[in-house]
Amino acid sequence: MSQSDKNHVRIFDTTLRDGEQSPGASMTLEEKLNIAEVLDAMQVDVIEAGFAIASNGDFECVKKIAERIKNSTVCSLARAAIGDIERAAEALKPAANARIHTFIATSPLHMRVKLQMQPDEVLDAIHKSVSRARNFVGDVEWSAEDATRTELDFLYKAVETAIKAGATTINLPDTVGYGVPEEYTAMFRSVIENVPDADKVIFSTHCHNDLGLAVANSLAGLAGGARQIECTINGIGERAGNAAMEEIVMALKTRADILPWHTNIKTTEIMRASKLVSTVTGFAVQNNKAIVGANAFAHEAGIHQDGVLKDAETYEIMTPASVGVTKSTLVMGKHSGRHAFADKLQDLGYELGDNAFQECFRRFKALGDRKKNIYDEDIIALVDDEVATWANRMQVISVNTYSSSNGSAVCDLTMTVDGDKVKTVTYGSGPVDAAFNSVKDLINISPHLQLFQVHAVTHGTDAQAECTVRLEHDNRTVNGQGAHEDTITAAARAYVSAVNKLLVKREKKAPGPVAVQ
Ligand code: KIV
Ligand code: ZN
Repeated sequence: MSQSDKNHVRIFDTTLRDGEQSPGASMTLEEKLNIAEVLDAMQVDVIEAGFAIASNGDFECVKKIAERIKNSTVCSLARAAIGDIERAAEALKPAANARIHTFIATSPLHMRVKLQMQPDEVLDAIHKSVSRARNFVGDVEWSAEDATRTELDFLYKAVETAIKAGATTINLPDTVGYGVPEEYTAMFRSVIENVPDADKVIFSTHCHNDLGLAVANSLAGLAGGARQIECTINGIGERAGNAAMEEIVMALKTRADILPWHTNIKTTEIMRASKLVSTVTGFAVQNNKAIVGANAFAHEAGIHQDGVLKDAETYEIMTPASVGVTKSTLVMGKHSGRHAFADKLQDLGYELGDNAFQECFRRFKALGDRKKNIYDEDIIALVDDEVATWANRMQVISVNTYSSSNGSAVCDLTMTVDGDKVKTVTYGSGPVDAAFNSVKDLINISPHLQLFQVHAVTHGTDAQAECTVRLEHDNRTVNGQGAHEDTITAAARAYVSAVNKLLVKREKKAPGPVAVQ
């Protein structure tokens, strides 16, 4: 193995599994497929597509991603239970490259309180689960949940058991985000030095961000011998989140002078992935977020601007282009024709059917009448909005609102529901409230609004609004998006998009602690 291969770090993305576990971040099958395709295009080594046993919906997601993705390895999580492993194996059958990821807690606290198992029983469960997984696939990852609070002697035994049973990757997670870098390096070093055949497997980090140390800890894991990092786009995940992929990848790339490790990630796809995940989950990226925040490459102070104009390296340690941030390009205006629009869609990577194209072109022309300059971002927002509503049971046709600072607002809404045109006029305390009340008046459920968020697609008062609505109903939470040059129409479209998702059945039960069979 060459030196550079020894320093190759596999990127294991868990946005679709650990990321989706953040409260409110649930995603539809279509959204998960879109994200998986972007991750594949980024050259992510492993995509953790879900937890197949969790629900029929999760099973379907893993299966569909396994069918669709041809380059990255597709992985399903499974507890140390035969039923979990069989379900994961079944969902992964169509995958070109499949991995089963099985885990059990190894810390004294988790074993006693959560699992109510003796250490010997846990070792037995590791042996059974990993061996069973190896009967289905050659690529098996085993994780010691809460590894950073596990006694080292027991961790050695657990890892040795997993390797003997056939695990090919060993993950030592900082499940509760408790570790600090030096300690995490030392843990990997000790395990690798003390466990027989440790050199035959790949060790992995998996860090949560409760103390804001997830990225630092992941890099520290590499210093201790780990060669896989588990992470998520934008760092989404349980509680304070997981290690952010974009930060890890760009730290390794930018500081290659002192960090000898490298990944295969196509960094120019980072921004696209970040925007997609933020839109789908409704989790806005904070402006000052490293790498993907709106201000990550903005220079406000005059002295900085002057320096950057003379030589970008004065204040920029990486180029915006290296993470896929491009200058907003002025694309077209209302005089641009069908042909130019079709070319633009092709450049942006869209392939639309005839009907979708006609409708997008009609909306593009309507936008051109109201907005002088149309940018790439405008077209992306418009087409994504149109495509997302295409197959839906309910669609917004028109929204007319009247509001004043002195009284209530009224909304006149027309929609189609299963092909029938329906109409209502409803009041609210403001125009958004009136629009949402109108939608509720036309459907027979009354979901609880958990989040309403508006974002301007470009600069200026004529910018399109991109709205996110999070609704909760019958123990299910969904996010809907809508874009339009009229903010209230965008809000109504987002609300209806969320309602459409609620109408698609997808039960989800939270898997409890393992029941070993
Ligand atoms: O945080 C954790 O320990 C996990 C495991 C299931 C790998 O997510
Ligand atoms: Zn985790």
